[in-house]
Amino acid sequence: MRFNKCNGLCGEVTVPGDKSISHRSVMFGSIAEGVTEVRNYLRGADCLSTISCFRKMGIEIENRGSVVTVRGRGLRGLSRPDEVLDCGNSGTTIRLISGILAAQDFDVTLTGDASIQRRPMKRITEPLSRMGASIESTNGCAPLRISGRRLHGISYTSAVASAQVKSAILLAGLYADGETRVTEPFLSRNHSEIMLSHFGADVRTEAEAAGPASITIRPAENLHGSLVEVPGDISSAAFFLCAGLMVPHSEILIRNVGINPTRAGILTVIRDMGGDITLLNERAGSGEPTADILVRSSSLRGTVIEGGLIPTLIDELPMIAAMACLADGTTVIRDAAELKVKESNRIAVMAQSLTAMGADVTETEDGMIIRGGKPLHGAVIDSHSDHRIAMTFAVTGLIAEGETEIPDAECVNISYPRFYEDLAGLMK
Ligand code: S3P
Repeated sequence: MRFNKCNGLCGEVTVPGDKSISHRSVMFGSIAEGVTEVRNYLRGADCLSTISCFRKMGIEIENRGSVVTVRGRGLRGLSRPDEVLDCGNSGTTIRLISGILAAQDFDVTLTGDASIQRRPMKRITEPLSRMGASIESTNGCAPLRISGRRLHGISYTSAVASAQVKSAILLAGLYADGETRVTEPFLSRNHSEIMLSHFGADVRTEAEAAGPASITIRPAENLHGSLVEVPGDISSAAFFLCAGLMVPHSEILIRNVGINPTRAGILTVIRDMGGDITLLNERAGSGEPTADILVRSSSLRGTVIEGGLIPTLIDELPMIAAMACLADGTTVIRDAAELKVKESNRIAVMAQSLTAMGADVTETEDGMIIRGGKPLHGAVIDSHSDHRIAMTFAVTGLIAEGETEIPDAECVNISYPRFYEDLAGLMK
């Protein structure tokens, strides 16, 4: 796919449903009793992997129009799949399902694509094993062979602020013989806590502002199915937020975006950089705050992004790094070593690709230093089949001189199948 300089982006866009919330709605709906109706479920490849795994464990899931209906069979209602569960490219699927499967009365193997088989799984197998789970991995990576066991509650301190780690432990905690507590260095996205409470679980959070957070869950007798309204994904909206700021003569209204504070760090960064954004029509949704966001082209300045802000914008950092190339002054991203173990090594890939376009970027151990203001030119960008890298460079291509080519562009199907159509729809 090829991208060229653009004269402005104008109009409205509605981004697809939130990926993290969509996954959780099917997972929690499957182990709840009764029907869970999910509105605005994300039909991206990752969330379809989650549906496919639960269907293979006997759960009836209808996936029609914009509504997904899950007929839950209760905490003990999953059946042993006849085949390996393929989680595709989805870290959320493999890590969260592991927490549920650790407590079932059957054995199962989980795997995924080449990227998933490189990503670290010890961060979940270690705490789950401490709870009594039996998990065999291949050098700490997938495939994972899980044999269900009776689990004990633990108190676990995670070295990383990871919602996937936290959620895997909390899900196992539903089945444990006592309370389970997870402490993380900063509060990571809290969609599991919100939705599990909504489904009737006893979950409590103690969080210090910009400091550690502890989440406690009590074993559950049952969960009850519920209605879930999935807000638009702020991680998908991020591409239009930054495109609107970066491309001159732009004004974009992005409708129905989830702005949960554990996800909305990009809004803080945009304000720190001097970007013109306005939140309109703020509302509560089903426990997940939502708003429309109006963005206009802006002159930007460099900033520092670090500490507790990082988990609230971890998936947006590739796009933010590209935007920082246009800012006046230097942007420093630190405390973001987690970027190295995403769908690709996003520190290395961003530094190499932005440099190929003429930017002044230094890769560091835990982030990047970006000296803004150098004019960018088109290049051929290897997305490493990473959806967020492909979308980042589709947007960056709109402000570069000459042509930007992304050969493996269809990887956006993971989280935003209509991305290129929606972007083209805004072009003047
Ligand atoms: C996610 C958590 C984050 C994020 C990922 C989705 C989730 O990963 O990067 O895209 O749904 O819980 P980590 O938990 O590894 O930080």
